[in-house]
Parts: sequence; structure tokens; C-alpha cells
Amino acid sequence: MRTLFSILAVAACAAWGQEAAVIPRPVSVTSGTGVFHWKPGMKLAVDAGSAQAGRVLEAGLNLKAEATAAKPAAGIRVTVDPALAVPSGEGYTLDVTPSLISIRGKGPAGAFYGAQTLLQLMPSGQASEVRAVRIKDYPRFVWRGLMLDTARHFLPKPAVLKFIDLAAMQKMNVVQLHLTDDQGWRIEIRKYPLLTGVGSMRKQTLIGHEEKPKGFDGKPHGGFYSQADIAEMVQYARERFVELVPEIEMPGHAQAALAAYPELGNTSQKLEVFTQWGVNPNVFNVEERTILFLQDVLTEVMQMFPGKFIHVGGDEVPLDQWKASPAAQARMKQLGLTKEVQLHGYLMRRMDQFLTQHGRRMVGWDEILEGGVDQSATVMSWRGNKGGIEAAKMGHDVVMAPTTHTYFDYYQTKSPSEPLAIGGFLPLETVYGFEPVPPELTAEQGKHVLGTQGQAWSEYMPVASHMEYMLFPRLTALAEVAWTPAARKNYADFQKRLPVMEQRWKAMGVNYHPSQK
Ligand code: ACM
Repeated sequence: MRTLFSILAVAACAAWGQEAAVIPRPVSVTSGTGVFHWKPGMKLAVDAGSAQAGRVLEAGLNLKAEATAAKPAAGIRVTVDPALAVPSGEGYTLDVTPSLISIRGKGPAGAFYGAQTLLQLMPSGQASEVRAVRIKDYPRFVWRGLMLDTARHFLPKPAVLKFIDLAAMQKMNVVQLHLTDDQGWRIEIRKYPLLTGVGSMRKQTLIGHEEKPKGFDGKPHGGFYSQADIAEMVQYARERFVELVPEIEMPGHAQAALAAYPELGNTSQKLEVFTQWGVNPNVFNVEERTILFLQDVLTEVMQMFPGKFIHVGGDEVPLDQWKASPAAQARMKQLGLTKEVQLHGYLMRRMDQFLTQHGRRMVGWDEILEGGVDQSATVMSWRGNKGGIEAAKMGHDVVMAPTTHTYFDYYQTKSPSEPLAIGGFLPLETVYGFEPVPPELTAEQGKHVLGTQGQAWSEYMPVASHMEYMLFPRLTALAEVAWTPAARKNYADFQKRLPVMEQRWKAMGVNYHPSQK
């Protein structure tokens, strides 16, 4: 059986012509002569810098790695070579000859990505046959992201770990965790225990679409990550060269926090954790003590998440409560502000300064431009490309995450049998066609585009398997957008390579969308 599988894999490569079925498509693939055959007695040798690559090959090929700097004459060898002629530490080469497979990473991440490529060339899950080839590869963008909304529906920790694996398999390197929203607060903050004590549980959830609700389900829904859970997720991600970016929403999408600490709000109304979807008016006030509260939260968040970027939300902030609140009006006067949107800008700048002082970088959704933020802030452009273009022209770094190409809560086919989704229509081919650097930018401005990110907003994805259905294969198309040089993209070719991913998803029990081709 194993041999048959291997023969099929080699035959499949041959049937697809010259190129190996690798996703995202590598920068360059040159076929060689002959076929490598794994034989008993061969070694998987990894050097000190390639430990993570070794681990992924052990698990993915059912082998035992040997830590050694020595070069085996035959087998698989993984090394890190800082002198490798590729532009980043994430780059690698993979040489397959009839006797030896050699993976060289410019850095440990490159070795890891070379290993991921090899796993795609041996998709049966066993060391097997591979046609001779030379691959040279490195990413187009440094931010190749996936956002998981853990607030609308709690994603249990094992599901988060699986999504980290699924992202890393396709060479994605950022997983943003949307940890707080109106419907739930999902991260333990020791100084403010009611955030999870009250804010992590809602009493029920709307049934049906927000625009045509069919009542409530009457079932409490909740959950949160302890600080120990976060430590485990951070470590897991680090071993896979994924940076976890936490997102703490402010000043909007704050109702779960306001249910826990009403004094952070603008009205005397008693709030509960929100049980419906959509934008609601309950936002944080911008009193000094609220700013200090938010900075306390960020202090613990920075202790938990060692990465550079901290996301502070900033999207969808109705200004009505600040307009109506005498305290907010007095605060504006005290700060010399004339418009409520400037209060939003004031809050965001305070957070940016705080994070910058601590050696981090603030990210926010594109609304942060409206209140005015410093150039240090990174802008995530979701309402089309417009915010990203404006921001890049102003010298901000940007991540392109427009609804039109990266919102995986949209329908993926027109079939009436698709499960209820938020709306919209985003088929696989449209995702694949995304170009993250808008033509409006000059080459210099275009350098501010760090990359792109797919969004899994979970209002209509109650469980992880449903999220898998919405993400795969669309996220895979986005992975190729984020990694592969634009000139190497080809949708028909991508579709031919997809079955190799599907084979691996099947083995991992991933509920991918089967008819997206
Ligand atoms: C967003 O979709 N509100 C960022």
C-alpha cells in the first residue's frame, strides 16, 4: 500500500508536467534527473539550527531525526546556512538527487519551510519517492496572516493549536487572536478578574442571521484562555515560526468588558455580555482611569505575548455616547478637542506611545487613521484598500485585509446548501486574484505593505470544524498570494496543486470545502 501510494505520488507529479505540486508555489523549481527513493537504513540528519525542521519531518514522515553536523551520503539532510543566496532568513533551497535530499535554510525558519515543502512532495505521510528537483524559495511578504475570532464563539485551545499548524503548513507566519469583543472576553487578566469572571460568558446567542433573527438559543456560551494556556499557545506557535498577535479591542466592541466593569463606560445603564451581532453603541469612555486600565491590560498582554505587534482594534466606534455624555464633552474640552473622533485618535495615540515605550508596535484597523495616529502605528486595511493606500502614502506600515478578498466569513459558493454566513460572496478564485500592493502606490510606498491576512470572524462559525470549512481552501489561496512572486501566480496551476493539500487535510481530519475548484 505504502509503495503504491508513493508510486501514485510520483506519477501524479509526472502527470502535472515539470513542476512539483507545492503550495504556495515556490520562487523557482527546476526538475533534475532521476528519482530519490527512501530506503531502510537511510538517515534524517539535522544540524543544530534545524531542530524544528527536524521535528516536523519526524512527525510528518514517520522518521527519527539524528542531530548531527555530519553529512550523510544518502538520506535527508537539513542544515542552516546564513550565507545562502536568498533574501531572507525564511528562504531555503531544497535539492533532491537520487541519493540525497538536502534542505538548506538561510535561517531556522527557512529550514522549517524547506521541510514543509518536502512534506508536500511526500504527501502520503511516509518517507517515499521524490523526483529529482531543485527548489529555491523565499517569501514575497513578511506578514502572512490569519485572524481567528475567538470572541464571538470561543475556540478551544486545541483548535487554536490546530489552526497554527494548518497556517504553518502553508508557510503563514502570523496568527492574530481576536480576544475581546462585545460577546465575550477571552483572556485572563490577573489585575481585573471580572473581565473573564463576568465577561467570558454570555447567557445565550442569537439564532439565525442578525438581520432576520429567529430568537435566542437560551444556552450560555463562554470560555477563556488562562495565562498558562496563552503561554502554551505562544510556545507552540514559536516552534512553528508563527507570531501570535493578540488583539484587545478598544474603544468599541467593548460590551463584555463594560458588563464586568461598568465604570469604564459612558452611561449608567447596566449591561450584560452582548447576545446579538453587529455594531453596538457601548464603547469605553476616555477618562484617564480608563486609559490606565487599558494600559494595565496591555501590560499583562505584553508579558504573555513576546512578539513585536499588539493589535488594539479601533474599528467600528459609534460616537453617539461620547456626544451625549457630559463627562466625555468635558474631557474633550480639557484636551482641546472639538470633534468626538479626535477622542478616538487621542486614545489610540496614548496606546501607541505606551506600546512604543515598551518596545512594541501598535496595529489597528483602518479607522485609526480617522482620529489621527503617529507614523509608528501599523494600519490593517479592511474597508477595501483605501485605508491601506492612504496609510502607506503617509508612511505607515500596512497589512492589507480587505473584505473583498480576505473575509472568509463570506459565502464561498452560490449553492443554497452553504451554511448560513454573514453575507457577501468570496469565491476561491477571487481570493487567489488578490494583489496586496495597490497600483496607486509608488514602489517606495509599496514597501510599506507588510503583507496580507485572512479573517475568520466567527459570528456564524459556532465550532472549529465550521471555521475549517470556511478557511480551506480559501486561506491556502491567500497563502500563495502572500508568499509567491506575483509573476509566478497562476490559478489553473494552483487548482492542479490543491489535491496534495487536500490529501494532507484528510489525514489531519480537516473539514475543508470539497467543491471549491
Ligand atoms: C472589522 O471587520 N470590523 C475589522
